[in-house]
Amino acid sequence: MRQSVLNWNWMMKNSVSLALQEIEEALPVYFQALEGNTDPVLLDAMKYAVNGGGKRVRPVLMLFAADAADIPRKRILPLACALECIHNYSLIHDDLPCMDNDDLRRGRPTVHKVYGEAIAMLAGDALLNLGHEILLEACIKDSALVPAAYAISRAAGVRGMVGGQSAEFTIRNPDKKELIHIDTLKTGALIQAAVTVPYIAANSPYLHDIERLGLAIGFVFQLVDDLLDFRAGGDKGKTTFPSLYGEEDTLEEIAKQNRICQSIFDKLSTASAGRLENLREYTETLSHRLI
Ligand code: IPE
Ligand code: IPE
Ligand code: MG
Ligand code: MG
Repeated sequence: MRQSVLNWNWMMKNSVSLALQEIEEALPVYFQALEGNTDPVLLDAMKYAVNGGGKRVRPVLMLFAADAADIPRKRILPLACALECIHNYSLIHDDLPCMDNDDLRRGRPTVHKVYGEAIAMLAGDALLNLGHEILLEACIKDSALVPAAYAISRAAGVRGMVGGQSAEFTIRNPDKKELIHIDTLKTGALIQAAVTVPYIAANSPYLHDIERLGLAIGFVFQLVDDLLDFRAGGDKGKTTFPSLYGEEDTLEEIAKQNRICQSIFDKLSTASAGRLENLREYTETLSHRLI
């Protein structure tokens, strides 16, 4: 696993720092509530994963999408925290020896390297369940959030991230169509959920456009991730877009997907009332990791 956060921070804009601050204040509260009534090793492993220096791309996208959908960030914040818990569970399991067998993530030993495989598996399970507890708690307080919370559950499961992770293992020598299918499920689904959730909560008429936007952002995100691994020689023989088509074609595909994003933003900026700038600018910076 490569450390990809390095040249990320310097381009951090104030709007991103502020969104990150909101997330970093909200997330620990859920873990503080577990102190004293949870196995301390399990809780440590969960916190090790969640506080490991992740970029928080999904919750930041969700808060910026809340601005764009014109609904209060505060209303969406628990869902953003839930999604970040689910994302971190997916990474713990993704790194396990039975999956990608990675020793490092975010420049540190992976959870199973520090706590052993059994605790790593359980920390993943616990984060997945905690994510759903947070979702249901939010829905109990605000029942209009049910469809939005459902979108996250669905994106995390067999029709989303888990389905994509599985397809990556079961489809041998994927062709281009199959690779796009794998990437849009394993990575695209959670990122799509991040940007669509506020629009679902707002009952927006632009949901279809946002779904297309989320899919394109998610695909770009995985292509960028794969290209960084490819450049660093770290894709361990996995078939990825860059390993199959090379750097030039991958950059071309990224540019194509970014153009799709821009055309959707253009449409939304003339049609919708919300503040799109943060979401638009942040989406653009997701490809800057390649520079
Ligand atoms: C890594 O996701 C795994 C993919 C889905 C490509 P991120 O790059 O968002 O991981 P962190 O949380 O910032 O480390
Ligand atoms: C991870 O994809 C996608 C998940 C659903 C966790 P990768 O296996 O390609 O991502 P990295 O390179 O380990 O972060
Ligand atoms: Mg993987
Ligand atoms: Mg991996």
